[in-house]
Amino acid sequence: MKQIFVLGSFIVDLTCYTPHLPQKGETVLAGPFRIGAGGKGSNQAIAASRAGASVYFMSKIGADDFGDIARKTLLTENIDFRHIVEDTVNETGTALIMVDKNTGENMITVSLGTCNHITLAEVRNCEADIAGSQLFITQLETNIEATLEGLKIAREHHVKTMLDPAPIQDFMHSIYPDIDYFTPNETEASELSGIEVTDIKSAETAAGIFIARGVKNVIITLGKQGVVIKNNEVCEHMPAYKAGKVIDTTGAGDTFNGSFAVAIAEGKSFVEAVKFGCAAASIAVTKQGTASAMPKREKIEALLAGIWSKTA
Ligand code: RIB
Repeated sequence: MKQIFVLGSFIVDLTCYTPHLPQKGETVLAGPFRIGAGGKGSNQAIAASRAGASVYFMSKIGADDFGDIARKTLLTENIDFRHIVEDTVNETGTALIMVDKNTGENMITVSLGTCNHITLAEVRNCEADIAGSQLFITQLETNIEATLEGLKIAREHHVKTMLDPAPIQDFMHSIYPDIDYFTPNETEASELSGIEVTDIKSAETAAGIFIARGVKNVIITLGKQGVVIKNNEVCEHMPAYKAGKVIDTTGAGDTFNGSFAVAIAEGKSFVEAVKFGCAAASIAVTKQGTASAMPKREKIEALLAGIWSKTA
């Protein structure tokens, strides 16, 4: 089993399913409300664990009821949480999520809480386990210094790195050469490249800009349009899989990242690893919830083999 280290957020998701997403100033009557584990870091850790890796997860939670949700979730998901730090001052992060129950599209606002207060010393405590991993993955849903420190440690130990630049924060552009796998969605790719990414062609142009800045491999996720991948050898568009009706797209990118990371850690080619990640994400969007919707390895492999059905 390959080892993956995830540094990132644990957030409790408060989600409402609505007939449509509200306009500014509009109140919409929602359907059911759900409370559950989320946060891009935790979601990617869970996706990787379910896809078959041994996962270390470093994050910070409050000494509160939402922190208890983190502990229970990580235990159930078989994730090593020795590097989870408890903060007695700041609260566990929280996200307010609305999902359009007809299209599965969402709107998210996230309050990072204690995930905005990870110290450099807390990241440095993870050095031995980062060094012993095949891949280090992180996002921008913590204070930026923590992200940068984690990337620096990984590079010092020649561990491959993956950065999901979400949610967009200012980050030092000098770190592009330290990123082996870079996974923006179309919004993030637009903002960071300065090219408005709306289709395959514009995604390829934006990907070229990231490669020119020093990233080794770029994957731009385009929702139902699939993904565009680029490195010095390949530039390809790969269409999205359809595993059933799209119910909830929350965490689809995280499912892609976590499962793609497992395939890379296992030595699959760039293209094969992207297929694995796309298959996992296409299954996750057919169910409500974020972490709870993520598939186990058998389902991903079955879809790739072409025999997965909604009832499996
Ligand atoms: O990527 C989805 C995640 O973004 C949600 O789980 C929410 O917590 C926000 O961080």
